Parts: sequence; C-alpha cells; structure tokens
Amino acid sequence: MVKIAPSILSADFANLERDIRRVSSADYLHVDVMDGCFVPNITIGIPVVQCIRPVTELPLDVHLMIERPARYVERFCQAGADIVTVHVESDTAENTAKALELIRGCGKRAGLALKPATPAEAALPFLDQCALVLVMTVEPGFGGQSFLADTMPKLRRLRQWVDQRCLPCELEVDGGIDLVTCRTAAENGAQVLVAGSAVYRAENLQERIQALRERAEKRSEA
Ligand code: DX5
Ligand code: ZN
Repeated sequence: MVKIAPSILSADFANLERDIRRVSSADYLHVDVMDGCFVPNITIGIPVVQCIRPVTELPLDVHLMIERPARYVERFCQAGADIVTVHVESDTAENTAKALELIRGCGKRAGLALKPATPAEAALPFLDQCALVLVMTVEPGFGGQSFLADTMPKLRRLRQWVDQRCLPCELEVDGGIDLVTCRTAAENGAQVLVAGSAVYRAENLQERIQALRERAEKRSEA
C-alpha cells in the first residue's frame, strides 16, 4: 500500500493544530526542518515538533535539511519524532553513519535523504542502517516546485537494491507530488509520497489524500 505523508510546510502555521487534524487520514505527517544553511530557507525546529506531538497520532516523519544533523537528531527523537531523516550531503560519511546510529539508539526509524543531483550510490554504504530512503524530487528548500522526473532512474536503482537485498527500507519521494506525478513515483518504486501543496491547496484535504493514494496504487498495480 502506498503511504501519503502531507507536509505541514504548506499548512497555515497560525492554525497548525487545525491543519494537522485536517489530514488525520494520512499515513505519516511530514515535518520539514530547515536551518538557512543547508537550504536557503528557515522553517521550524525542536519546540514545534514537541508541541505537535500530542495533537496527532500520526507518525511524525521529520525531514532535517540542516548542516551536521548528528548534533540534533537525539533532541528531535526526544521531542517526539518517529522517523528522523538526514541528508547524505549535510556531513561527512562518518558523521552521517553516526547520525543514523544515534537515531536508531533512540529507538526511532532512521532515514537518509538524497538531493536531486546526488547519485543513488551515495546511499549504498548506509542502506543497511536505514529504515527509509528519501529521494528528493525537487531541490530542497521550498514547497510548490515542479516534480523533477529525471530523478526516477535513481529511484528505480534504489528499489532494485532494496528488493534484491530484502531490506526493510521504505522508499519515499518528496517534492512536486500531485495527482499525476504520484503515479510516476509509485510506478518507479516509491512507497511513501510526501505531498505539501497537493494536499493543503485542496478543498477537501482528506479526499485529496485518498485520491493520491488510489491513483498511485492503481498505477503501481497496472
Ligand atoms: C521541500 C520539502 C518538501 C515540501 C514539498 O524542501 O522537503 O517536503 O514541503 O512540497 P510540495 O509537495 O508542495 O512540493
Ligand atoms: Zn520534506
């Protein structure tokens, strides 16, 4: 089954609790953390994760777009994150392995994210330690951008490796997912689809979540 992870980056931060409740039928809640260094934007951090934890039962899928994330991953876990994803480009290989280990040490699921230009091979040394690999389908930093279809061969390679090695690693895509591109992503091996504007710009959010799920699944079965 394809999972849908609405990104609260597209929510109304003045009404965050309301906007989180409006997506209660989703599978994960995607939380984009940006530090103004790794990406040219600044969003939310640990206190916000802590505040939203009690208002939803959805697993919190925290996407860290920050430099040297090993410094902070444990605090995100303690704040209530269920999945903590770090970018492979945000530190040395040694520190990336350390960040993943720290997340697992907190009993949480560790994820690794790849920017559009980063090859699939960059994830290879870490695949055994990851519960999730996130393939960025836009440049990280902003919602509302167009899906980069040229990232699909990378997703297919990752899907092959994960299947061949029977790894318990979910493949997630993030950026530009809508009622059309959700099919493309699922067809190429994605199991978790992050959707910010496609969910929050819809008139009925729960219906849009279901529509994304159904369209993605239809295509992946075809
Ligand atoms: C971008 C973020 C995404 C963003 C997706 O850096 O990681 O999660 O919210 O937004 P849409 O779905 O609007 O492209
Ligand atoms: Zn994200």
